[in-house]
Amino acid sequence: MLQMQMVNKTKRPTPTLPREIASGTFWFGCCLEVHLPPKILHNHNASYLLLGSKATVLVDTGMPYGWAQLRTELQTVLNGRPLDFVFPTHPEAPHMGNIGPLLELYPRMKIVGDLRNYHLYYPHAQDRFQTMHAGESLDLGDRRLQMVPAAIHDIPNSLWGYEPDQRILFVSDAYPYTHEHEAHQCGLTSEELPEEIRPEDTSVVIGFALNWVRHTDTDVTMARLNAFLQRHPVDIICPAHGGVITNPRQVTRVFEQGMRRVRM
Ligand SMILES: [Fe+2]
Ligand SMILES: [Fe+2]
Repeated sequence: MLQMQMVNKTKRPTPTLPREIASGTFWFGCCLEVHLPPKILHNHNASYLLLGSKATVLVDTGMPYGWAQLRTELQTVLNGRPLDFVFPTHPEAPHMGNIGPLLELYPRMKIVGDLRNYHLYYPHAQDRFQTMHAGESLDLGDRRLQMVPAAIHDIPNSLWGYEPDQRILFVSDAYPYTHEHEAHQCGLTSEELPEEIRPEDTSVVIGFALNWVRHTDTDVTMARLNAFLQRHPVDIICPAHGGVITNPRQVTRVFEQGMRRVRM
C-alpha cells in the first residue's frame, strides 16, 4: 500500500514529491504560498499520474508557474514512456493550466473528461479531445480510471476520477487543506503531518473555490457525499489542494466541519 506510510522522523528521510502513493500511482505538486498575515500557509496544487500496462494518464496539471518542475518530474517518472491522456477535472488554472505545453511535449496525448468550453482554450487541438461522461472508464490496460460525478463540485463540468482496484478517489477541489509553512512538509500525507488536520485548515480553499457552501445546506451536501462514498469505497483520497489523505473517514468529518464553519 502506501510507501513510507509510517514516517520515522528520526531515522527515515522525509518523503518528497513526486511520490509513489500506490503501485504505479504518483503524486506531483508544488505548493502555492497563501499570505494571510501574520502567517504564510501552504496550499497544494497537486497532479497525479497513473501508469497502466497500455496507457498513462495525468489527473490535473498544476498551475502554469509549476510547469518547469512538472515537466522534469513527469519525464523522470515516465522514464521514456509517453503521456497518453491528461484528465483535467475542470477548466481552471490549477487543474488545466499546463495542458498547452503538455500538448506540445506529447504530440499523441489526448485530453479526456467533460470538455465543454475547452475549445475556447485550445481551438487548435480539438481533434485531440475525447469527451467522457460520468460512468465511463478510461482503459489503461491492467487498470482503469473511472469518470465519476463530482459529489462536491466547483463548476458544472467538474468530474472526479476513481481507480477502483486501488480504491483511490481524485476529488479536485474537495477535501482541501492548507498547512502552515514548514519546510519539507509538502510531501507528507494526512496521517504523517506532525499535527492532525483541523476544520480551520480547510477554510481557505473552501472559502475561495467552493463559495456556494455559504449558501447551501451542508446536511444535503454531506448526504450526497456519503451516498457517493458508499458506492465508491476509498482507501486513499487525492485532492488537488491538499496532501494525500490516507484516513478518509476522519478527514471526511474534518471536511464536513470545515464546510459548516465557512457557512456560519
Ligand atoms: Fe476550482
Ligand atoms: Fe481548484
